[in-house]
Amino acid sequence: MSDQILRVPAEERYADELAKLQQADAATGAALPPGWKLSPKAVRAFLIGDEKLGVTRKFYGDDPLVDRAIVTLLGRQGLMLVGEPGTAKSMLSELLAAAICGNSNLTVQGTAGTTEDHIRYSWNYALLLAEGPSERSLVPSPIYRAMQAGAIARFEEVTRAAPEIQDTLVSIMSEKQLMVPELGADARVSALPGFNIIATANLRDRGVNEMSAALKRRFNFETVHPIKDRAFEIELVSRQLDEGLGAERANVKIDRKVVELLVTAFRDLRSGTTAEGTAIKRPETVMSTAEAVNVALAAALESRYLGDGTLTATQVAHQFVGVALKDNAEDAKRLRFYVDTVVRERARSDRDWKVFQSAATALWG
Ligand SMILES: Nc1ncnc2c1ncn2[C@@H]1O[C@H](COP(=O)(O)OP(=O)(O)OP(=O)(O)O)[C@@H](O)[C@H]1O
Ligand SMILES: [Mg+2]
Repeated sequence: MSDQILRVPAEERYADELAKLQQADAATGAALPPGWKLSPKAVRAFLIGDEKLGVTRKFYGDDPLVDRAIVTLLGRQGLMLVGEPGTAKSMLSELLAAAICGNSNLTVQGTAGTTEDHIRYSWNYALLLAEGPSERSLVPSPIYRAMQAGAIARFEEVTRAAPEIQDTLVSIMSEKQLMVPELGADARVSALPGFNIIATANLRDRGVNEMSAALKRRFNFETVHPIKDRAFEIELVSRQLDEGLGAERANVKIDRKVVELLVTAFRDLRSGTTAEGTAIKRPETVMSTAEAVNVALAAALESRYLGDGTLTATQVAHQFVGVALKDNAEDAKRLRFYVDTVVRERARSDRDWKVFQSAATALWG
């Protein structure tokens, strides 16, 4: 079944690694916090890797953040992952939930249309009309179900929900229970040990609302920064390119130098300072690592189906320009300036940058 669907949750994708970590915990008699499926050390290994056990690194670039996130989830506060788009906030939240409780699907997606029902519970109206409010007609939210199971609930993009809706979490987080008056004066769901919430929030985007101080106090905030280490980012993009291509990987010839060129261009424009130290204007578009992986994948598929199967800087330029021009015309000018100055300089002594330069300039004729 799983090879017929596009994306399986982390607990299925990495089922073998999770089993290995559970065995290692059992073998060492590691202490499991109440409701947790793995020890905190094993959860950390699941995210940052453990060569001995053959567990792969999944999160790159800030191991202390992983430790702080795990310690937060052991406590009474929830975990709020904030940061620029494409810095792996959602990926982290999925991996943490998969490792801690074996279920990363108890997720509320924050949008302008999110209501209290999405956070608390709603009703199956046919059953409600037929038999009135009952356990059967009640439709528990993912957070309700996480409380019942002592599991981790996820709230994606919490700041896209209206502030008064976000605040539905305040009583849940402080009292760890939810009253259900429709089922009786004293009816409630009380959270079992292991229950906690991981929320993600994107700070630089349209359509995000301010969070109330009351809600902020119930969460420990962790900022997920773009990857600082260039070598790490190249390794990550290369690995995710291989994974993303899957069976197609055998049909595409990939020179690491081309991936390095791609990552360098992304880091130059993301930071506004080139590898040589030249200052350039950053485009409005977020040149995130997630976007770099998307460009690498698109370029490789272009070379596979529209090229000769060899990934070159030409395909990278084609896909790169599309990303950098997502936002506004001003970005087009900034990208052109980058190609006409920084890339032109590199092209004097490097064949791949030469190819990138001519392909990019050909695009805007
Ligand atoms: N430090 C990192 N470690 C591993 N993958 C990363 C890292 N930073 C970015 N990525 C890439 O980002 C992808 C995950 O992006 P994700 O959707 O989780 O980002 P996000 O921060 O939630 O973005 P958004 O704010 O747009 O929702 C990963 O699949 C990977 O390609
Ligand atoms: Mg996200």
